[in-house]
Amino acid sequence: MAKADLEKARENVTALRREIDKHNYYYHVLDQPLIDDQEFDRLMRELEQLEEAYPELQDPDSPTRRIGAKPLEAFESLEHKVPMLGLDNAFSEEELADFDARVRKLTGLKTVEYFCELKIDGLAVSLQYEGGIFRRGSTRGDGYTGEDITQNLRTIRQIPLRLPEPLTLEARGEVYINRKAFEKLNRRREEEGLMVFANPRNAAAGSLRQLDPRLTAKRPLRIFLYGLGEHNLELTRQDKLLDYLEKIQLPVNPHRRICSGLEEVWRYCSRWQEEKQELPYEIDGVVVKVNDLEQQKNLGTTARSPRWAVAYKYPPEEKMTRVLDISVNIGRTGAITPVALLEPVTLSGTTVRRASLHNEDLIAEKEIKIGDTIIVHKAGEIIPEVLGVVKEKRTGKESEFRMPRHCPSCGSDTVRLSGEAARRCLNLACPAQLVEKLVHFASRRAMDIEGLGPAVAESVYNSELVRDVGDLYYLKVEQLASLPRMAEKSAENLVSSIDKSRGNPLRRLLFGLGIRFVGEKAARLLAERFGTLDRLREAGEEELIAVEEIGPKIGEAVVRFFNTTETGPVLDKLKRAGVNFTEPVAQKEIGALAGKTFVFSGSLQAYTRDEAAALVEERGGRVSSSISRKTDYLVTGDDPGSKLAKAGELGVEVIGEERFKELISQAPAGNDV
Ligand code: IVH
Repeated sequence: MAKADLEKARENVTALRREIDKHNYYYHVLDQPLIDDQEFDRLMRELEQLEEAYPELQDPDSPTRRIGAKPLEAFESLEHKVPMLGLDNAFSEEELADFDARVRKLTGLKTVEYFCELKIDGLAVSLQYEGGIFRRGSTRGDGYTGEDITQNLRTIRQIPLRLPEPLTLEARGEVYINRKAFEKLNRRREEEGLMVFANPRNAAAGSLRQLDPRLTAKRPLRIFLYGLGEHNLELTRQDKLLDYLEKIQLPVNPHRRICSGLEEVWRYCSRWQEEKQELPYEIDGVVVKVNDLEQQKNLGTTARSPRWAVAYKYPPEEKMTRVLDISVNIGRTGAITPVALLEPVTLSGTTVRRASLHNEDLIAEKEIKIGDTIIVHKAGEIIPEVLGVVKEKRTGKESEFRMPRHCPSCGSDTVRLSGEAARRCLNLACPAQLVEKLVHFASRRAMDIEGLGPAVAESVYNSELVRDVGDLYYLKVEQLASLPRMAEKSAENLVSSIDKSRGNPLRRLLFGLGIRFVGEKAARLLAERFGTLDRLREAGEEELIAVEEIGPKIGEAVVRFFNTTETGPVLDKLKRAGVNFTEPVAQKEIGALAGKTFVFSGSLQAYTRDEAAALVEERGGRVSSSISRKTDYLVTGDDPGSKLAKAGELGVEVIGEERFKELISQAPAGNDV
């Protein structure tokens, strides 16, 4: 009997693993989920439970084991059986023509067929599969020996732990981070007083070379494969090789192209120089490869690089300008950030006037002085960054910048805590911090109080009407209307949006309170777990860290927040003002839109995406960014895009903004009750 149970469980486990691998592929590689996140989580839980109940069925290659490994002392080295070569660079059209001339001469061909690929700006890695199972992965290292980063690579969801066929081969590619994810990562690190990454490439490299795979798992790493190391496949062309990699479910960049002769290669290079800003990731050029693998073999390699390929590198967009001054910003956690005020320059189409210098170590490292001539560029094509000082341009009139030893806002001493790059003002009553706290509380993702931006926040603070977020709920129209740059109408609007925010679910309030390390996600997890602010307040550190994904850092910060003397009065004020302290958990489940999944496409007239999503979620519904068979409604606004066609294919109900409004008004929000 027990034996039969085990056999049944084995079948289930195998089927579940296959199913989960498939959904991983559709979600992470194809960007076309077939099921929603909840359903995916349900499959994972089912597999976890079975593996727990039948330890004999556990398997290191199970999808449940992506982050199982313990931190390492150091990386082992791994030898590359086929060396991982670098590429020669071409920095101009002429140098590209030189490459083509050399290839034509060596092959005797009049026109060479090339294969062009985007040169992804990340970190080269090798993935070894044995019998279809991902066994080992490494960095490039010196080209002959790399570091064994298997455990870290396993955390990248796009990398299949199991191929659809039992193949033995080594695939090579580039690990990278999307620009948006890079910005978000750095924003969080800056808030936490950690060192920020200079660009997405460094962020990817730093994340991949973590000794603790659990840290790597938290980083948004992605991968594109572009070649093979050791293998026994019979392939004839580079384009076919990539099609093959794609067929065996490895992620391959879609913007690849066969180009016949130099002229077509040049057109491809020029096109992507224009359009590279629109890609979600950074490229630093184009890799041009001879397409025919036989020709590649005949051309051979030098000690450093193949003769059959070249990297055409785009000139980086950099400008020279002057540091007019260095000022400081004080964040809501008291972190003091130095900012260079620049003589305005245009970079990738926008005017740059300021560049964050992040912290004093960075200023010292780059030896930046006020008055210096410097080189700026945009990290990840977005964030202005000072690359370095042009020392030859110094006149002797430049002056050294020193981080303020006293907070420019409140005058208290600034300190640098051990292990932090940031200097901080620790005064909880510091006006600059309090104003930033108000702005954060009112921000869209927190309490969403329209009309309470930085200028108004400063104004209500300076007027002494408001000292903390609790005071906001006692503001009167007459008081606000008398403030500078405020009129009767704007005062009324502000009071009404403050009023409206009273009903927000607890997770928004928690996020808005700006507890250290408690971002949107932690706020949601805590709100869902504890249900009310009072319950959360009573919870000890142990109870807090028992919540999945809440670690000791957050746990300690939450306890400290509630124990701080300033906290009590603020919460009392909020409570007396009738601000909602509960998370509508139960309501959510029986909410009128419970179990319904919405996808939005195109812009709506009456709401932003975030607002529309909040309306659905408050009623127990779900919002997904991509459409699948499980989608209940596609809500279309102006310019709905490709999702509309997809909805037709999948038979998903399509509704317009008016019908959406009707649905929302018929279904009361859970937290209204
Ligand atoms: S092929 C022997 N293809 O660029 C050929 N490399 O500067 C090896 N890279 O180490 C490389 N995208 O890290 C190739 N589509 C692509 C690439 C690519 C990025 C990186 C790779 C390589 C470096 C050479």
